[in-house]
Amino acid sequence: MYINFWYPMATSEELADKPLKVKALGQDFVLFRGEDGLAKCVSNTCTHRGGSLAGGKINGNCIQCPYHGWEFDAEGRCHRIPSLGPNPKIPSRTRIDAYPVDERHGMVFAFLGDLPEEERPPIIDVKEWEQEGWTSTLQTYTIKCNYERSIENGIDPAHNEFVHDTHGFQGEDEEYKIGEMRLEDSTWGQGFWHTFNAPSLTKESELAEVRKDAGDLEVGTGYHGASHVWTYIHLSATDWMHQYLIERPIDEHNTAVYLLCMRNCYTDAKFDQNVIDRNQYVAEQDVTIVESLHPVITPDTNTKEFMVPSDKCILLYRESLKEWEQKGWKIDTDAVAAQENKTAFAIPSPARREQKGWVLDAIPLKKPSAEAEDLAAG
Ligand code: FES
Ligand SMILES: [Fe+2]
Repeated sequence: MYINFWYPMATSEELADKPLKVKALGQDFVLFRGEDGLAKCVSNTCTHRGGSLAGGKINGNCIQCPYHGWEFDAEGRCHRIPSLGPNPKIPSRTRIDAYPVDERHGMVFAFLGDLPEEERPPIIDVKEWEQEGWTSTLQTYTIKCNYERSIENGIDPAHNEFVHDTHGFQGEDEEYKIGEMRLEDSTWGQGFWHTFNAPSLTKESELAEVRKDAGDLEVGTGYHGASHVWTYIHLSATDWMHQYLIERPIDEHNTAVYLLCMRNCYTDAKFDQNVIDRNQYVAEQDVTIVESLHPVITPDTNTKEFMVPSDKCILLYRESLKEWEQKGWKIDTDAVAAQENKTAFAIPSPARREQKGWVLDAIPLKKPSAEAEDLAAG
């Protein structure tokens, strides 16, 4: 798992008038909406004696710890220590980590890392959001799998034939083969387009108007950062579905998925449920597969699996992960596990670059390996 990316923490709908405890990257956070209406995200562990802030109250634009009433603002600064009486001098070291928040597309994103604003990898670009003629659905589910397994499944063109009866022919197509993958590069990821022979939509009666016949579809897919995937399905020259699978590693074994599906066909709201049901049907087939992969976490080296050309994008994803590890963004989960129940860690927030002296230790990160550094240096 990697710090320094934007992760979806909740839907806007979920974040109402109560604090919300959300786990990401194996750590607890509390999200709350202040009286200014803005979503806020801070580390859940109170710097006094470890209270869980999510069990407390929202007070104006602050969150109040349920244990002894300390109050923290959206910057993580402590404003009130009731046991000290009125107007005490509050030491700056009481500060908790607070994270940049961006609420968009019906989701509340938090930037879990310490990079300054100009260096942060952006949230995946949903170009269709403001465009006329497009509409959206958002659905969420969790998977008992490592998020990298789920991302790799999203960018794997060869599983459709076997896993999804909506997309493939279960190996009954004698001519089946993954054709040319036309690669598409972007700053924070890679993807590809390919032509894809798929069944008609007649099984899904409501959606059948646009695709009555089996045949070639243009499909593009790729990853963006560590945990976002885009999949563009062009049902015809003009009827498109652009899906964004935006994931949050809850911990190494559990993943929260936010599926934002943009479409410029069947735009009437009466089709929303149909689209959601179809996506859920397809997602459940993927979930069954990824929850049973072995080992749970992808092997550290590619020689422990036998890759073929259709795995090209997966190899590129793994290369990107290595690059981000070389930047020092990968959490050392073994070191965290060794301290379990003994040490509360915090994902370092941007303020740690300016302020020294924090109560909680920053989470251990993997040191870039000298061997990989040599490779990068050529
Ligand atoms: S533990 Fe939070 S106020 Fe004491
Ligand atoms: Fe799938």
